[in-house]
Amino acid sequence: MIKKRVFSGSRPTGCLHLGNYLGGVKGYLALQDREDLDCIYSIVDLHGITTPYEPKKMQSKIREVVLDYLGCGLDPKKCHLMTQSQVPEHIELAYLLGTIYPVSRMEQLPTYKQKKIENPHYINVGLFYYPILMAADILVYKAELVPVGKDQLPHIEVAREIARKFNSMFSHVFPEPKAFETQGTYIPSLLGFGKMSKSIKGSFILLTDDLKTIEERLAKMPTDSGKGEILPKEGGAANLLVLVELFMGKKEREDNEKKYLGEGIRYGELKEKLAQAIYEELKPIQEKRKYFENNPELVSKILEEGRLYCSKIAKQTLMEVKKAMGLV
Ligand code: TYM
Repeated sequence: MIKKRVFSGSRPTGCLHLGNYLGGVKGYLALQDREDLDCIYSIVDLHGITTPYEPKKMQSKIREVVLDYLGCGLDPKKCHLMTQSQVPEHIELAYLLGTIYPVSRMEQLPTYKQKKIENPHYINVGLFYYPILMAADILVYKAELVPVGKDQLPHIEVAREIARKFNSMFSHVFPEPKAFETQGTYIPSLLGFGKMSKSIKGSFILLTDDLKTIEERLAKMPTDSGKGEILPKEGGAANLLVLVELFMGKKEREDNEKKYLGEGIRYGELKEKLAQAIYEELKPIQEKRKYFENNPELVSKILEEGRLYCSKIAKQTLMEVKKAMGLV
């Protein structure tokens, strides 16, 4: 059977948070279980260096993400794990694809605009090139499915456009990749506005947090009086209900919505129950993670297998691309 390929990745900006888990990794897990798919999941360190970072901590941050992946249940028997920079063909393809994509389109991308606001003194060419490198990550493996959260959809659109344009300008080399979204495709921030994000302090819960830390983080979430005539559509209370549904189920959310419209929600109690539910989901992940943390050589072996597997495919694609572009 010819298997369709899947590719996705996370930046090594430290341990993963609930947004990465629910929007990204849960999709990776669902797809690795399908017999008809060949999945590659990456730690995208080259994307990680487009925003301020500490070079001395880079290797340990890459490790944190691999450990989170393995802890969550990514299984090297079912998927390949690799570090992006270990397969330099990603960069080579990115350059080649950059020659067919208009600058004007890049400037409109919401993530580029957002990063410019977050790091006004670090607007580098790498940041500008970010979506092209991401397209190259996907297309170098001719991946057709890309499990990502909602925030990444504009980037997937770029990859699709590039694939189409390349195929029409040269010859048909690339499939048009599609995003695969989970139920938690957009996890809001604990601060009550925007999305959960590693770069925004107070917005996230990490996969490695213990119960007390989760309780403390939730306790700081802004809420309201707990009752009203219409349900809150945005802000802390609305975001809390999103997490209630994801970790405690739809019924629990509906019960709390009834309370909101009736006698009122006691947020203290609800937050404690939610913290417990989140921790129950994270505990086995943390235990599995610990196992791999204590077996660093096994982790290195897994990454090396991934590198070898991916290098082979990436080299073949590059050769096809260069031929199509008249470079060989
Ligand atoms: P990154 O590292 O920001 O996030 C990794 C994954 O987590 C998802 N995610 C979220 N999902 C729901 N709610 C949130 N609040 C939330 N925050 C993050 C992201 O959508 C992503 O799936 N550019 C990518 C990395 C990348 C990539 C790729 C992904 C590079 N090359 C090729 C797919 C294919 C990024 O920065 O993800």
